[in-house]
Amino acid sequence: MSDDVIVHQYEAVVVGAGGAGLMAALHLAQQGVSTAVVSKLYPTRSHTGTAQGGIGAPLGSVEEDHWEWYAFDTIKGSDYLADQDAVDIMCQEAVDCVYFLEHMGLPFDRTPEGKILQRRFGGHTRNYGEGPVRRACHAADRTGHMILQTLYQQCLKRSVTFFDEFFLTDIILTEDGPPPSCCGIVALEIATGRLHVFNAKTVLLATGGFGRIFKITSNAHTLTGDGCAVVWRRGVPLEDMEFYQFHPTGIYRMGILLSEAARGEGAYLINDLGERFLQRYAPTLMELAPRDLISRYMYLEIKEGRGIGGKDYLYLDLRHLPRQVLDEKLPDITDFVRTYLGLEPAREPVPVQPTAHYAMGGIPTDVYGQVLWDEIGRKVNGLYAAGECACVSVHGANRLGTNSLVDILVFGRRAGLHMASWCREQGWVPLPDNPQAFTEQILSQLLKTNGTERIGRIRQELQEVMMDQAGVWRTGDGLSQALDKVRSLKERLFHLRLDDTGRLFNLDLLEAMELTYLLDCAEALVVSALNRTESRGAHYRDDYPERDDANWLRHTLVRCSGWRLGSADHKLEFSYKPVVITRFQPAQRKY
Ligand code: FUM
Repeated sequence: MSDDVIVHQYEAVVVGAGGAGLMAALHLAQQGVSTAVVSKLYPTRSHTGTAQGGIGAPLGSVEEDHWEWYAFDTIKGSDYLADQDAVDIMCQEAVDCVYFLEHMGLPFDRTPEGKILQRRFGGHTRNYGEGPVRRACHAADRTGHMILQTLYQQCLKRSVTFFDEFFLTDIILTEDGPPPSCCGIVALEIATGRLHVFNAKTVLLATGGFGRIFKITSNAHTLTGDGCAVVWRRGVPLEDMEFYQFHPTGIYRMGILLSEAARGEGAYLINDLGERFLQRYAPTLMELAPRDLISRYMYLEIKEGRGIGGKDYLYLDLRHLPRQVLDEKLPDITDFVRTYLGLEPAREPVPVQPTAHYAMGGIPTDVYGQVLWDEIGRKVNGLYAAGECACVSVHGANRLGTNSLVDILVFGRRAGLHMASWCREQGWVPLPDNPQAFTEQILSQLLKTNGTERIGRIRQELQEVMMDQAGVWRTGDGLSQALDKVRSLKERLFHLRLDDTGRLFNLDLLEAMELTYLLDCAEALVVSALNRTESRGAHYRDDYPERDDANWLRHTLVRCSGWRLGSADHKLEFSYKPVVITRFQPAQRKY
């Protein structure tokens, strides 16, 4: 091992300090496992902190509710692609996770009697679709922020060790197998540029999503698919990457999220004629229909010329809501409108457009967070994933609002507990020679100084083509164009030129690495979307507008072999996993 590399040993290493990572780390530490959290950000800057509207849980504190109703909504919302065994677990354990957070100190909004207050959210219904139900537990419109603060404080109390501003560059897999075993990770310390090798009995990837492949997104700049890309390069398949969710209400042109909680509290969506146009498409749930459908209907309204002033946006109308609701239930998003648009939402309608929000696909796992190596369910020993980077799959082809927070809590906890028993039962797998070699090769290629291509230019071209051809509305031709483009951008990486070629706090290098991750995620998304010749959930293809259960009621796995930086001549291979169906047979979705 080179003298410059610093080696650590922890029984468990968690990569990412959002809700899934912290929930796992807390449960590991509670079980007495030596645990390190490696995060590219200071933990409370993680993207969970931007989650606004609420956590789904059938507490029934405001009106009758049952986990079976919740499971049905989640499965129907997923366009029947979610695995129903995993959904059952999520909907049952959600209740316990919410009470766990309450006991850890999370300041939920309350009913007058002191119970946890719940609000309506898209796709959540009473009695299997009769009408909206109040299921989202919340702390105003800052629910994710409160989760993050609560969990971080608890992790500190339990002496979890944090490596803040450490950037994941590789996972360390053994050469044996398949399937291989994971015995650690490699990370770059951003401040010094030094490489650190973490030897671990078990590793959890909880690195979040990759919304930055799109031009208009609610995702922070840091959401670059690090975990997904790192495992993909190492031959682990990615699941259901074609399913990417657009949230209906992003601030026009900026993509900043205006929570569905606004519609849960009664806000309308209106077109240029002042119509609540959802009357035409989803007469029962109206503004509380699932996101895939609303985003598509917004696109249709715009396409048919009913965008505001004939342009590519519509209005979110909060003017009829009582001032107290705006101030007490929606304080953050109403402030965003004032700050970013200079509008007063109590008096003026707010321009919105669908914004790239959430990856339903990701690293395939079982219900304990163990990463799957293949379609027959073999596992990568010691490697786990949870949260948005993972695909368990509880969201199928379209996630319901609130279910990202439920997913990170339920499956973060399950992963942490399973990792703890793994640590008790398994010995250490020794590190291979030079585990940092692959990272060093990539870094030195990026730091060479003879190129002409710029990071910002390649990223911009990527985001534009993905937005135009792989967003809400897709066609085979458009996806083929996008794939050619993504591959040519990958090749252009070979000629990258960085302004900063030093090692200390080199943000150029960081952005270049992130760009390589974005391109991998984009390629996996586009090839999977091109391959799936049907429309389901968030994956809508104009050339295959119908759902096709006979051929496509199955999960896609796409595996890469022969990956090299600056090249697009690797091999991609598809395989398929059946959808687990228990109680709810696929049916037509009507809202
Ligand atoms: O609209 C929102 O508050 C977002 C919630 C979610 O993505 O679950």
